[in-house]
Amino acid sequence: MKRNVEKQTFKTSGITVPDGTTHQLFPTPVTLFELNEQEMNAELAAFFTSDPRFSSSDQAQMSDVTTLMEHAAEVPALHRLEGLFLACLENYCREIGWQGEFDLAMQMFPNVSPRGHYVPSHNHVSHISAVYYVHTQPSDRPLIVSDESVRDYWRPDEGALILHDPRFNASLQGGWQYHAKVFPRPGVMIFFPSFLWHEVTPHQCGEPRLSVAANFSLAYRNIPTYEHHRVFSC
Ligand SMILES: [Fe+2]
Repeated sequence: MKRNVEKQTFKTSGITVPDGTTHQLFPTPVTLFELNEQEMNAELAAFFTSDPRFSSSDQAQMSDVTTLMEHAAEVPALHRLEGLFLACLENYCREIGWQGEFDLAMQMFPNVSPRGHYVPSHNHVSHISAVYYVHTQPSDRPLIVSDESVRDYWRPDEGALILHDPRFNASLQGGWQYHAKVFPRPGVMIFFPSFLWHEVTPHQCGEPRLSVAANFSLAYRNIPTYEHHRVFSC
């Protein structure tokens, strides 16, 4: 890029202005919970690695068309995981200021990712999303890195969950773009708004990375009387 080496030609020395007031509006709340659930992880790992449906070549394409709770009768650890998701959801909703009574739709789906697997950039069709890590490759990186330069964005880190700046076109307009990387460990549960674009880089571990994603859609129950709710087909 051509650098501008010309001297500044305008003068501001005769002009004074008061300090402005900056408001950091519209932050994106991302909450990490570090849970100690070794027994549950062992039961979930045994389920994911022994059931052939999770090692099929189209596992990634088909993972979110079912809900894991279909298997809860045979895998009690799924009840435990669902309870943890809901307890953390309550905490997250309190953090972001969602209070009241809701109708909640919740889906849990597995991600069984063998060596070299990656997840392209995407966001989720719901209000709040979460991921729980059952098994990951060991990492010497911090759990979350959010102060990297833009140059570091292009470094091919292994097994990283990259969170993108969600502001419209932020990553296309130099100077505004930010990113964060999560280097997950077993037991970590991360919550974020479903609109947040994210991706997962490949890992080179011999064992598959095991995680469970969850989507939550919440509708306030105290709808105003002027809103007429009905079934609509088309
Ligand atoms: Fe995702």
